[in-house]
Amino acid sequence: MPEITATGTTTAPLTTIANIGQHVGQSVKLQGWLYNSRESGKLLFPIFRDGTGTIQGVAHKAGVPAEVFDALKGLTQESSVIVTGKVREDKRAHGGYELDVETVEVVQRVPEADPYPITLKEHGTDFLMERRHLWVRSPRQSAILRIRAEIMRAAAEYFDSNGFIRTDPPILTPAACEGTSTLFPVDYFGDEAFLTQSGQLYIESTALALGKVYSFGPTFRAEKSKTRRHLTEFWMIEPEVAFMDLDGLLELAENFLSHIVQSVLKNRLPELGVIGRDIEKLKAINAPFPRLRYDEACEMLNQAHKDGHLEAPFEYGNDFGSPDETWLSSQFDRPVMVHRYPADVKAFYMEPDPQDPKFAMCVDVLAPEGYGEIIGGSQRVSSYELLKSRIEHHGLPIDAFQWYLDLRRYGSVPHSGFGMGIERAVAWICGLEHVRETIPFARTLNRIYP
Ligand code: 4AD
Ligand code: MG
Repeated sequence: MPEITATGTTTAPLTTIANIGQHVGQSVKLQGWLYNSRESGKLLFPIFRDGTGTIQGVAHKAGVPAEVFDALKGLTQESSVIVTGKVREDKRAHGGYELDVETVEVVQRVPEADPYPITLKEHGTDFLMERRHLWVRSPRQSAILRIRAEIMRAAAEYFDSNGFIRTDPPILTPAACEGTSTLFPVDYFGDEAFLTQSGQLYIESTALALGKVYSFGPTFRAEKSKTRRHLTEFWMIEPEVAFMDLDGLLELAENFLSHIVQSVLKNRLPELGVIGRDIEKLKAINAPFPRLRYDEACEMLNQAHKDGHLEAPFEYGNDFGSPDETWLSSQFDRPVMVHRYPADVKAFYMEPDPQDPKFAMCVDVLAPEGYGEIIGGSQRVSSYELLKSRIEHHGLPIDAFQWYLDLRRYGSVPHSGFGMGIERAVAWICGLEHVRETIPFARTLNRIYP
């Protein structure tokens, strides 16, 4: 048993539950919270969590000082504790180890009269979202946030290690990028400004300065969509490359996504286990990915309708709806890259296909298992005249776009880029029903609290 110092702490080394396997047979100190506990007569089985994992402790009445037993007995869920104990390997235990408790210091005891509101029984999603500031403590939610962090790390790593320079576009902007109907207005000292929908237009500028760039930040959409795929505030990572055409962009997208998924498999396997993700499906995510022209995708949708898989017939020329994307993306075991949509349903800045200008040189990457679009991108219009007429045709304020037109006045080149929404990628990689669990505090049509 470690020596107890005057302050009540012990000399046992501080570690984390994730690293506990390095201390078998030793006494260690953990700082965390009581996740749950079971009591059976003279035996207590407190389960501790510390943010890196959970571990079951064991305290026998005869084996620990009376004050330790008393402190643990009846201790309330989510009370904060500093605990020491000896690490024992136990093949049957969750995580493979147990802690024979030696000392415990209760940092804050949750009062019995005002218990932790999220019990270990089932709660409804609204109840949990209203208490999101506490819900993030659950092992499942913590695991999702760890996987999210790995996805963001690996995404940035892919670009950092492939010659891209990170350049940060502004969040306060004078004009729309992705269409005017989804803007959040802000009062900018008496002028109207907007929260950015995408950093794209600005990183087209930095791409022509630096060659290969990316941006990574929050983006905003005021669309009144209540689907499981829409947030009003989400994080987007966007590469933009000078002298890259659509073919180059497709290759970039498939290599980028493969890197992210393989990194999650390598570095977050325990977390994938906690959330019960089928990892065989993720192991298949390796470049190259299937490519489909919009026209071919339409044929598949028509056939699916004939065969009774889709309720509504697909009308050629439209963008895909959620059920269409869901069906298309469930036909492949890896992301499918749908390219060359009709220019009319896509953004003003997309380069027309030189083979047939009715189509845009664009791509939507649809994640498998029915997840739908996770990446949208295109080759950009490089002709000054065409871009100017597109801006006018879309009724956008030409003055706000003069700087963007400058990029076609001075050394215009073919260039391409895409954007990936982090939350959609997390939902797919974690196998989640809804994007609201993929970000610490989701902002949706109906929720801005907590
Ligand atoms: O397809 P989008 O609208 O494309 C753009 O914004 C381009 N300017 C990007 C570029 O080419 N640099 O959005 C890109 C991605 C989508 O594929 C999706 O993953 C995500 O951003 N996204 C959303 N995620 C959550 N909630 C929303 N409301 C989203 N809207 C787009
Ligand atoms: Mg899109």
